[in-house]
Amino acid sequence: MPQKILLYCDPGIDDSLAIIYALLNPEIEIVGIVTSYGNVDQEQATQNVAYLLELGGKKDIVLIGGAKTPLSGEFTPYYPEIHGEEGLGPIKPPATIKGELLNFDAIFKIIEDYGEDLVIVDVGRSTSLAISFNLAGEETMNGIKGFYLMGGAFLTPGNVTAGAEANFYGDPIASGIVMEKAKNAVLYPLNVTKEAVITPAMIGEIIKEENNPYQSIIKEIFDYYFEAYQKLVPGIEGSPLHDVMTLFAVTTPQAFKYVEKVVTVGLDEGNLRGVSIADFRPKPDEIGNKLTIALEVNPEEFAQKFVKVMSSPISNDE
Ligand code: RIB
Ligand code: CA
Repeated sequence: MPQKILLYCDPGIDDSLAIIYALLNPEIEIVGIVTSYGNVDQEQATQNVAYLLELGGKKDIVLIGGAKTPLSGEFTPYYPEIHGEEGLGPIKPPATIKGELLNFDAIFKIIEDYGEDLVIVDVGRSTSLAISFNLAGEETMNGIKGFYLMGGAFLTPGNVTAGAEANFYGDPIASGIVMEKAKNAVLYPLNVTKEAVITPAMIGEIIKEENNPYQSIIKEIFDYYFEAYQKLVPGIEGSPLHDVMTLFAVTTPQAFKYVEKVVTVGLDEGNLRGVSIADFRPKPDEIGNKLTIALEVNPEEFAQKFVKVMSSPISNDE
């Protein structure tokens, strides 16, 4: 039986490739997608997901309207230089596709329907997931099988500031709530997702034979992202697909090495904003909710699986 996933996201290039990866992977069944602000605004994130679903003939997957701002209500910047103006690199979804949204409480119906058969994967800012905890309470939210969360950076540089990763930086209050309340939660920080490097040669391999409707856009989206990363990290051989690795982890947990830690998130407006903090001393001083943190990964296993899944045919019951 494929793993049922409720996906929280903010597409964005790596989010979009993660959605495509999930739709093409027979081990995964997406049962709903919560679209929120993050890499782009919430309306754009919704349009992008609707476009990807239409392209794959997957319009039966429900979309749920997530957060438009962080819990603080402040404006946080989008990243067109990395993800493109519309979040899909050079690709502009047709104006006729807008995406129909269900109200936020559809999340709780999905949790009720699937219970322990469901996992939640959050590859965006933590706002919508924190609101889910605030509205439904811990008992309801933790009635599912578990959480897979992309965020944080431990003893490794951040990607927005020296210490902070983008998802935690975008809404540190929300990330703190999720770290405190989510049970059976596994965190995929930059330590592992920076290893999710996909190269132009791998993309060439994926599009060699035409098997699925996404191959026609994958190269353009990837090339934009790769160009952006080449400016950020001169000499880099490929670009890290953070969010795809988090989806990969759901069905391939054995590719990682883990530690268990209590995680807190810096709230300071200065250098500590969004910084993920855990106690790595030999005798840690830890009280609170322990999360599992992936700290090492086998990057070859990821790359091989990515190429295989992205070049496979889409199964479609529509
Ligand atoms: O830090 C990586 C995360 O931030 C990913 O979810 C990516 O989409 C970006 O917004
Ligand atoms: Ca994301």
